[in-house]
Amino acid sequence: IRCQSINTDKKKSSRNILDNASNLLTDFLSGGSLGSMPIAEGAVTDLFDRPLFFSLYDWFLEHGGVYKLAFGPKAFVVVSDPIVARHILRENAFSYDKGVLADILEPIMGKGLIPADLDTWKQRRRVIAPAFHNSYLEAMVKIFTACSERTILKVNKLLEGDGNGGPKSAELDLEAEFSSLALDIIGLGVFNYDFGSVTKESPVIKAVYGTLFEAEHRSTFYIPYWKIPLARWIVPRQRKFHDDLKIINACLDELIKNAKESRQETDVEKLQQRDYVNLKDASLLRFLVDMRGADVDDRQLRDDLMTMLVAGHETTAAVLTWAVFLLAQNPSKMKKAQAEVDLVLGTERPTYESLKKLQYIRLIIVEALRLYPQPPLLIRRTLKSDVLPGGYKGDKDGYAIPAGTDLFISVYNLHRSPYFWDRPHEFEPERFLVENKNEEIEGWSGFDPSRSPGALYPNEIISDFAFLPFGGGPRKCVGDQFALMESTVALTMLLQNFDVELKGTPESVELVTGATIHTKNGLWCKLKKRSDSH
Ligand code: HEM
Repeated sequence: IRCQSINTDKKKSSRNILDNASNLLTDFLSGGSLGSMPIAEGAVTDLFDRPLFFSLYDWFLEHGGVYKLAFGPKAFVVVSDPIVARHILRENAFSYDKGVLADILEPIMGKGLIPADLDTWKQRRRVIAPAFHNSYLEAMVKIFTACSERTILKVNKLLEGDGNGGPKSAELDLEAEFSSLALDIIGLGVFNYDFGSVTKESPVIKAVYGTLFEAEHRSTFYIPYWKIPLARWIVPRQRKFHDDLKIINACLDELIKNAKESRQETDVEKLQQRDYVNLKDASLLRFLVDMRGADVDDRQLRDDLMTMLVAGHETTAAVLTWAVFLLAQNPSKMKKAQAEVDLVLGTERPTYESLKKLQYIRLIIVEALRLYPQPPLLIRRTLKSDVLPGGYKGDKDGYAIPAGTDLFISVYNLHRSPYFWDRPHEFEPERFLVENKNEEIEGWSGFDPSRSPGALYPNEIISDFAFLPFGGGPRKCVGDQFALMESTVALTMLLQNFDVELKGTPESVELVTGATIHTKNGLWCKLKKRSDSH
């Protein structure tokens, strides 16, 4: 597919003068040319009429696994090739930082892991990663179950009506329900705070949604308007954003103060051996405060908590939303999933151990993440010049990129690449069970589960970076197992109790994106108590 750069060169000559000038300017400003890299020509409407990642996909099919996208005075390199993604994320990870993403998230997450500069990141990652140990995850499964139980109860109440025989089915926006569920779970798991958002509203909950909304908005807006002097005092939305932040920060500060007052300093190994399942407070905050040698100022701790609150909330809710959307269009797969749940659990609730037996549900979750990755793009900027490796076809010399180059790794393109997946747009959870050692693709070692022995869920190692739902390399998501288990528990319990249908047509569920892919007007579904269960 790289061969298309020749055609692209011809097309390039016909591009309008303004575009050429902007490319020259960008190349000049970024210290050099991107050589023979194909250039995507898109109308500006491509960027605004539909989610950006759809256009990036079309250009990927046209221009190949590495191309340059120029709009206005700005240019991005778009990567849809696993070998190049592996290079950026793992092999040469420390030559890149988060670039544009850090600009967007810094006002919310401060020096939390996602936007952090490399020095802060190294320090905090070393402390935070061990907090997600196995006993913690086991304790979390109990929390996932207890919180999902609340959602089930809520639907059951709707189905019971006022006691005089309720409706046959309950109509709900499951996207909103999953969002509340994920918020309750992340609050308890990260700082032992019960938002209780499945059943109530509160100023803190409103503030969290307000902040997330602003984060989403900023990530789709190409001009950092929030940096305009006085904007935070003059623009009403900016004022509200800062008020929301104040409410959340006050809540987090209080939790940090309480945790510090009851600190019991211990070594990491001892902390990990605590009787987690019976601990009153099994949260990450407790671990981070009690860990010996991990003293940190309250501001950094607050940034860490805020980062995990934002990173672990909408992402997980979105996975559940799209898993249900896909299942609802595939009734036979829904039945197969329910049969597995009935066989493994009967009427019991899922446990840490039983998750290992719920293979089909786990594959549904990862297949939903393949088709709807959250986020659909990973963002990077080169800290120093680099040479991207030649991908699986064409240009063996690769592409030299100067320091300061902005890159998008399109996880959406990788996950739907016709070069790596059969029927890439189809929902086929079973696909992950088939080994694929496509030797025609030089430099890519195929899908091989033996590469990641003991992994409960397929990952980037098994797929040699063709499947990247949680990124890869040193900056891979720290909460991946938390999120996967959470989604598996919530989906299991939903299917154990209800049959789910879409209320409208699949087409009416329109897609919008910010940091995650969500629906335009909610995922409206009809839920009926299962008649054929257990
Ligand atoms: C990073 C996805 C849930 C905390 C990431 C990255 C991805 C991702 C793709 C890498 C970003 C990059 O390389 O630019 C997801 C998805 C989730 C999820 C799809 C849910 C299904 C969570 C949860 C937590 C979390 C539950 C915390 C409890 C983080 C943090 C980072 C991160 C702290 C930054 C890691 C670092 O830079 O060291 N996530 N995430 N995520 N995620 Fe997640």
